[in-house]
Amino acid sequence: MADSSSRGGGRYAQPDILDYVNRVHVPHDAGFARAFTVPEGIPAIQVGPSDGKLIGLVLRMIQATKVVEVGTLIGYSAIHMARAIGPRGKIWSVEFEPHHAEVARGNLVAAGVADRVTVLVGAGRDVLPTLAPEAPFDAVFIDADKVNYDFYGEWAVAHVRPGGLVIGDNAYLFGELLDDSDRGRAMRRFHELVAARCDSVCAPTPDGLVIGIVR
Ligand code: DHB
Ligand code: MG
Repeated sequence: MADSSSRGGGRYAQPDILDYVNRVHVPHDAGFARAFTVPEGIPAIQVGPSDGKLIGLVLRMIQATKVVEVGTLIGYSAIHMARAIGPRGKIWSVEFEPHHAEVARGNLVAAGVADRVTVLVGAGRDVLPTLAPEAPFDAVFIDADKVNYDFYGEWAVAHVRPGGLVIGDNAYLFGELLDDSDRGRAMRRFHELVAARCDSVCAPTPDGLVIGIVR
């Protein structure tokens, strides 16, 4: 009963309840709806509406204006963040797949935030170092290839200002966080690094969302 999984909401977060709270708290306008609808051939692995809204709210709480995203997919989370940081903010969002980036750019235009989001195509390991001149950032949101989370986390804590945020999706690694695998080890290093360098939590979203405030 009182085990830690039920307290996370596993028993109570039933699909019809989640649909209701998402409808009430995260209503999708046409911009969100378009970016949430993944075209044929692109994996539907975007964050959920509540996760996206939560990320936007924590950005607003720290009045973030400069944000890096690793893993654009087709722009759904970027739209949440872009709306949260306002028209004077700026997001650099890195996407490995050129086709995903192209779809994302169309979605960002449709959502009215293309002016404040730049989608950069390439591997995070190659693109992130090119963003160093823009540092310090207010936040880095990591939602890309899991085997590189330790690299992305290291880069984030080095380039986010004190008081800024390091956020990571899929922190339970689809239930494989404790596996003896390269991505299991990388994700555990990410957790431990964020915990060492930030005041942090792994929020119990469906796949875990790490949020850390850089010390
Ligand atoms: C996958 C990636 C994600 O970032 C996610 O949130 C869900 C699934 C994937 O690669 O399968
Ligand atoms: Mg994810």
